[in-house]
Amino acid sequence: MAVTDIQRYLRPGTLQLSALPPLALYIHLPWCLKKCPYCDFNSHEMQPSAMPEARYLDALRADLEAALPLIWGREVHSIFLGGGTPSLFSPEAIDRLLSDVRARVKLAADAEVTLEANPGTFEKDRFKAFRAAGVTRLSVGVQSFNDAHLKALGRVHDAGQAIAAVEEAAASFETFNIDLMYALPGQTLEQLEADVTQAMALMPPHLSIYHLTIEPNTYFAKFPPVTPPEDLAYAMLDRITEMTTATGMERYEVSAYAKPGHRCWHNWNYWQFGDYLGIGAGAHSKLSFPHRVVRQVRNRDPKLYMDKALAGNAIAQDEEVARADLPFEFMLNALRLAEGFALQDFVARTGLPLSTIEQPLQEAQAKGLVARDFERVKPTERGFDFLSDLQALVLA
Ligand SMILES: C[S@@+](CC[C@H](N)C(=O)[O-])C[C@H]1O[C@@H](n2cnc3c(N)ncnc32)[C@H](O)[C@@H]1O
Ligand code: SF4
Repeated sequence: MAVTDIQRYLRPGTLQLSALPPLALYIHLPWCLKKCPYCDFNSHEMQPSAMPEARYLDALRADLEAALPLIWGREVHSIFLGGGTPSLFSPEAIDRLLSDVRARVKLAADAEVTLEANPGTFEKDRFKAFRAAGVTRLSVGVQSFNDAHLKALGRVHDAGQAIAAVEEAAASFETFNIDLMYALPGQTLEQLEADVTQAMALMPPHLSIYHLTIEPNTYFAKFPPVTPPEDLAYAMLDRITEMTTATGMERYEVSAYAKPGHRCWHNWNYWQFGDYLGIGAGAHSKLSFPHRVVRQVRNRDPKLYMDKALAGNAIAQDEEVARADLPFEFMLNALRLAEGFALQDFVARTGLPLSTIEQPLQEAQAKGLVARDFERVKPTERGFDFLSDLQALVLA
């Protein structure tokens, strides 16, 4: 990061951010055993024996060092090691990576450190070694417990390996997450119920469950599978919410359910328009300065990323968020939360007065999509179910 860039970020501007929001660190690890046909994440097929682990870690360290002036003196409250399949990295590599981070940033004493792990990518005791390296929370990418659906999703694991991975996560970590998807090709309501029943039997403190979407530029976009109709997908979501809340979980975000005390701090911060520095191939950052909010994207291709990061310049794009886009960017995420947002956070994090969102809020309230008092705005049940309508109002 050239000194001139920092000066550019710090120069005067029309926004007035009264305080900087909490800061998180995202680290992208881009390789997977096999590319799934529905996945548009920045993930690339690689055999673990061919992974340039040490060089990638060198690149991450160089990337972080170059970014340090942008977060100088700020405490980091969470780290999220996402992918790709981070659990393909050896525990020794994760240990080195977290030591490199700790040596360079001020990490909060109670920082949440999440690692995404795929079933079928670990041998016994690997999770314990991740724990010893400083990972506090494991996120297990299960997707389904039905072997036929796992096959249709192109997953490398079966249901037995998924259960074994979750049991190992429960034994090794004080908290963990299961990732599931629903509205899968050919899935019935009964099969969805069986997936949720199996997930609940494993007593996860946190569950993320996403509607399978067909993303552009994926194999499924070219050869679309037959997925359940919209009304069935809605019925599935209702069942998911009923079944999870019956076990004491709370739906605190559109796709996230947690037992008390087990919300994901990292994602929570993201939804609340908190700051995050993202390092690694294709990683995104959102960083605040007294007079502007900046977004950055790292080079996406892992090889190019490593070359560029090691040469001190991993950033492919960087732009200031336009003043006119800030209200939408803030609300897009904040309205995903059941608790909505505090009005004072809107002012603090966008640097804009409340009057900029008064009109869309009035309209959303008139349509029964949000409720508000003097302190907070939150989506109503109807607003939660019709989130894209609500977001479109803010966009308009
Ligand atoms: C970054 S991905 C990777 C996690 C891990 N590699 C895995 O696949 O298990 C995080 C989660 O996004 C969800 N996801 C990925 N592609 C999706 C899609 N097309 N539709 C819905 N959810 C998706 C999956 O549940 C996945 O676990
Ligand atoms: S394992 Fe996860 S990140 Fe990798 S291709 Fe599949 S869904 Fe994408």
